[in-house]
Formats: sequence, structure tokens, C-alpha cells
Amino acid sequence: MLRVLPRVIPEAPGRPELAGEDHPMRKVTRQIAFDPDGWTPERAAKVLELFDSLAPTWDQRDGGGRGDALRLVLGDALDRAGPIRPGLCLEVGCGTGSATGQLVPRFAGVVGLDLSYEMLVRASGAPSGRLQADGANLPVRNGGADAVALVNAFLFPGEVNRVLGPTGAVIWVNTLGDRTPIHLPADDVLAALPGDWEGVASEAGWGTWAVLRRAGSAGPT
Ligand SMILES: C[S@@+](CC[C@H](N)C(=O)[O-])C[C@H]1O[C@@H](n2cnc3c(N)ncnc32)[C@H](O)[C@@H]1O
Repeated sequence: MLRVLPRVIPEAPGRPELAGEDHPMRKVTRQIAFDPDGWTPERAAKVLELFDSLAPTWDQRDGGGRGDALRLVLGDALDRAGPIRPGLCLEVGCGTGSATGQLVPRFAGVVGLDLSYEMLVRASGAPSGRLQADGANLPVRNGGADAVALVNAFLFPGEVNRVLGPTGAVIWVNTLGDRTPIHLPADDVLAALPGDWEGVASEAGWGTWAVLRRAGSAGPT
């Protein structure tokens, strides 16, 4: 079950209309989330080439408002979703690390993983680990993580489920809400995860977020 919290951070004017329902990345996002065979070597190679090419200008996207929008929406999620066990957080699809600085104070350790080396080498000096890895095949033992943060990143539901411990949390953020190219509504994230999950979702600024846990999990211990 999903509990939708009322918005407390208003939407400022000027949200970039980057993508709609028909954006090609939207289709890919949905296929990866709902079709276990949706992530093929050919698709992985194309995605890698795309993000490697975008990396040099990634931090200038969305006309400069992106950083603020991201801080608002991720901050709102971390402040209002209830306690998350502050152990190891995997930030999958971390890109140049725009969100990492906000995760670091909340966890004992944050590891940013990305397919694109060109993104990773541009990641700022936030005190976190960085690893080139595929979210479809995470180099993490079963149950080894307390949180998986996905900020404008593809959802590989089986891997997220595998690496999260019993009280682990999925932190799902779309900086531009339903105008984010890699977007899924919170209900779809919940539906895509194997097994029974529950959580809270809301909107903040230009973005949307959801924090999901296994149904009935006790929360942090
Ligand atoms: C839209 S960008 C978001 C980057 C960052 N989270 C942000 O919001 O600025 C998506 C990122 O996911 C990475 N990515 C795409 N497919 C991936 C995969 N299978 N495993 C890990 N990272 C992946 C891309 O290289 C890219 O850096």
C-alpha cells in the first residue's frame, strides 16, 4: 500500500518540460522495470554510449535549476518518509553525484554506482565510494544494503530486492516529476518490486518521490 503525503514544498514556476509520456527513455524505463528481459547487451551498450556522451555537460542541464530542484525533492523524501536504517546506501545511477552530498550525512556509507565511467570521473568530491557497475547486476551480497537510492535512474526491481536487507528502503526520486525522462509513478515502482512492499510518496518542488519498504518490516533497528 502507498500512503500519499500532502505536498509541503510548493512547485516554483518554470519547471522544464523535458519529457512526456512519449519520450523514448520513458518506454525503456518501463520495459526495464516490468520485463526481466528488458535489459539486453545491445540496450546496455546504447545507454552507456548515450550517458558517456552527456556526461561533460550533465551538470548544466535544465538551465541551472536542477541542483536546487534535486535538493528540495530528495531532502523532502529523507525528512518526511520516516526513519531509514543509517547503514550502507547504494546510489544506483549516481551520474556525476548531484545527489550524493545529501545522502552522505544520512548514512554510515554511501556507494555511488554507475554504468558510465565518464559520469563517475566527473563526480564531485563527496566522501563516498564510486564504482562502475551495472544496476542489473550489482556487486553487492544479498541483503547487504540498508537503502538503495535511485535518483532519475532505472529501476532493476530484482536486484534492488536482492541487495536490500529485511528493513531496507528504496528511495525513488524524479527531479522533474512526470516530466523526468526516466520516470515511474510511485505506484508502478511498488508494483514492479517482487514481493509485498509499502511506503510513502509525495511531491516537492518540481519533483516526485517515494520511499518504499517491505510490507510489515519493523523499520530501523
Ligand atoms: C538520468 S541520469 C541520472 C544521474 C543522477 N542520478 C542525476 O540525477 O543527476 C541516469 C544515470 O544512470 C546511469 N545508468 C544507466 N543505466 C545504468 C545501469 N544499468 N546501471 C547503472 N547505472 C546506469 C547513467 O549512466 C546515468 O548516469
